[in-house]
Amino acid sequence: MRVTRLPIPDTLGTPESAAFEELVGVLNGIVVDLWGDDDFVETAEQALAAHREQDYTERIVFVAIEEDAIVGRVEVVFPLNADSETASLLVDVVPALRGRGIGTALLAKGHELAAEGGRRVVSAYTEHPIRTLEGAERLVRASAGSAGLPAESPAVRFVRRHGYSLGQIERSSELHLPLPPEREAGLTMPLNGFRLVSWWGAAPDELLERFAAMKARMSTDIPQTGIAVDPEDWDGERVRSQERTLVARGEPLLVTVAVHEASGEIAAYTELAVPADGTKAEQYDTLVARAYRGHRLGTAVKLRNIQELGRRAPHIRRILTWNADENDPMLAINRAFGFRPHALTGHWQKTLE
Ligand SMILES: CC(C)(COP(=O)(O)OP(=O)(O)OC[C@H]1O[C@@H](n2cnc3c(N)ncnc32)[C@H](O)[C@@H]1OP(=O)(O)O)[C@@H](O)C(=O)NCCC(=O)NCCS
Repeated sequence: MRVTRLPIPDTLGTPESAAFEELVGVLNGIVVDLWGDDDFVETAEQALAAHREQDYTERIVFVAIEEDAIVGRVEVVFPLNADSETASLLVDVVPALRGRGIGTALLAKGHELAAEGGRRVVSAYTEHPIRTLEGAERLVRASAGSAGLPAESPAVRFVRRHGYSLGQIERSSELHLPLPPEREAGLTMPLNGFRLVSWWGAAPDELLERFAAMKARMSTDIPQTGIAVDPEDWDGERVRSQERTLVARGEPLLVTVAVHEASGEIAAYTELAVPADGTKAEQYDTLVARAYRGHRLGTAVKLRNIQELGRRAPHIRRILTWNADENDPMLAINRAFGFRPHALTGHWQKTLE
């Protein structure tokens, strides 16, 4: 077995892109094995679009190769703000070859790359579909929230053996569409002093900088007990860059913002990544600025965005969303919409020596 850097190709369908395309296939096999469905299967085009954006986030991939086949990979994700201290590691090994040290070798390479990149704190993630959570005897808990992860799951054993602590648990939840009319009616309320604006794909120029300022708050104004996260710098150009990446991935963002009419400020926003085909949309950010909390704006922007989704993309039948386990206000809003538990994600961290 050898661990070697994976070149990121300029285009697909060339001899230089063969290894990249092979890795996409290997990762698709791993997610189908884990989730039992194709929710997180990607085309090579979608995977490449995520790797092409290197202005705000740098991604380095090393693969484990055995008998000329890719059997695992580590992807190191570096946020590129001036004083970033963290890096994230994504480690996956093909199911048939686990328990033989491949994951350990990939993780060691990831630690080496993070240290070379000057990062002190590394994050790793474990995914736990709802069907794998029943009957666990021992649970690992984070410092906040009420959920726990099964201590005997191979992924949990792996990260703990390598010195990681559980910083935060995220709950993912799913909602089936359309909303029943009586539930929709129960969520509808008058909005005094705010105007809702929606777009799919590109923010209107006149809201661009105000929208960017709100997105910067998404890295600081949400519950993050127990984990270190680098603040993100956002400006209009970064918003445009994310829009281009998501259009290239075939899943532009459908956004609804609440504009405070007296000041012109954006008080709240919510985003769904909506593919032109397929049946599932993914919730990205939802944020109400601190000064505007308590006016039911979170419910208002989410409801309007789901109504826009029904008009613009009626083929979407499900929404998946991710929230910190300790984020009671957001989880309560999601329950009112009818979201049901889908999975837990462990966000683990370790400080490199
Ligand atoms: C977590 C994951 C990456 C581990 O990969 P792996 O190749 O099985 O990892 P290793 O073989 O190095 O270690 C797994 C176990 O095998 C044991 N092992 C067996 N032979 C070994 C060897 N020669 N060298 C090292 N460990 C060995 C380890 O002791 C370890 O035991 P543990 O479960 O008690 O900790 C893999 O299960 C996976 O891909 N899971 C899905 C993705 C995921 O959850 N990733 C989270 C980490 S970011």
